[in-house]
Amino acid sequence: MAPTLRARIFGLLRYTDPSPSARRWRALHLTVLGIGLLAVILLSIDELPREIKHWLRVVIWAVTVVFFLEYLLRLWVAPEATRFDQQSPTMARARWAMSVSGLIGLLAVMPAAMLAGGYGITGSDTASVFCILWILKLGLHAPAFGTLSRVVSNERAPIASVLILFGIVLMLAATAAHLLERVRQPDQFGSLPGAMWWAVVTLTTTGYGDVVPHTVGGKMIGAMLMISGIIVLALMTGVLATGFAQEERRREYLRVWDQVARVPIFASLGVVTLSEIVGKLRTRYYPPRITVVRRGDVGDSMFFISSGEVEVRLPNGGAVRLGDGAFFGEMALLERQPRTASVATIKPTTLLVLYASDFYEIASHIPALAEAVEVEARRRREENLGRQPGEPGR
Ligand code: CMP
Repeated sequence: MAPTLRARIFGLLRYTDPSPSARRWRALHLTVLGIGLLAVILLSIDELPREIKHWLRVVIWAVTVVFFLEYLLRLWVAPEATRFDQQSPTMARARWAMSVSGLIGLLAVMPAAMLAGGYGITGSDTASVFCILWILKLGLHAPAFGTLSRVVSNERAPIASVLILFGIVLMLAATAAHLLERVRQPDQFGSLPGAMWWAVVTLTTTGYGDVVPHTVGGKMIGAMLMISGIIVLALMTGVLATGFAQEERRREYLRVWDQVARVPIFASLGVVTLSEIVGKLRTRYYPPRITVVRRGDVGDSMFFISSGEVEVRLPNGGAVRLGDGAFFGEMALLERQPRTASVATIKPTTLLVLYASDFYEIASHIPALAEAVEVEARRRREENLGRQPGEPGR
């Protein structure tokens, strides 16, 4: 059954849709967003001539109208989301409106209501400053934001430990500085909140320099606090970086697992062997007319075509097309020589990449797979040797 107009628009508006039309829409959306934000920033400069300010306001209005239409469209297509499968269209729309993406969409058009209320166009530009909330829309374009919330959720125990450590060091240092400095500097260290302000500025390695310890004891506490600050920040960075890397590995594993079934050479492998290979493959999406492999380059990986089509441009002028399930780039790895041909995409293509080190490791574990790749490489080599210059490929 052909998808309905609503389903097609839903697909187009999805921030993660890999199709070329959805990518074009996202590029347009980002351009409009960039122009709008630039206009808001420029409008805050008092010295600009009135004429320019007028045009900037027009731009802000136009961008707001685009965002308003986008909001209505997203509201209309909300029932298409699989997470609202079990709900009535009205309920799905209400739930979307209350979601992060819905609330950001609403915030983006709210300043327009204020502008329409008489501000901005006729007098003060205060309301237009709120258009800076459009920046939140940028967050919706960053898939890593979803990852970030998952990382924070997965790593909440170590994050909480680091925060507790931060709190303990902060309170101990603030109390010690309060006791040591309060006589010399009653204004700054006379109260615990005052000393805590100094401790936060020092512990986070910000160091405004507005409050400085004067006693020897205070300076020693300050020195220890600075060193602790670096350690605490390093710990937090480590926890988040590891969490991000693990989350990305998990997501990539699922993406590859979905794609790998389309490659016949993996079809006969058992689940255990397959899961070992899946952990080593990476997905890469290429638009048409992109050269993936260049003749003469050093080969550091081989590729399996999960979907799409590529053209192998042979040195003798011939060309061979490879489609779903085929592989290429194996000859450089097997013979440890430069690439024998250039390979470019013909259609939008999803490839599974296997790096050389992983290929050699897999080849030693799974001889059947290595042999299948070698047999095909040998056939290709013989075919290339036997083919006359200028003779087209199969
Ligand atoms: P490699 O030499 O690493 O890089 C270019 C790739 O093109 C090569 O590996 C093969 O995978 C592929 N290739 C070369 N010749 C042929 C052929 N005759 N038929 C299909 N693929 C080929």
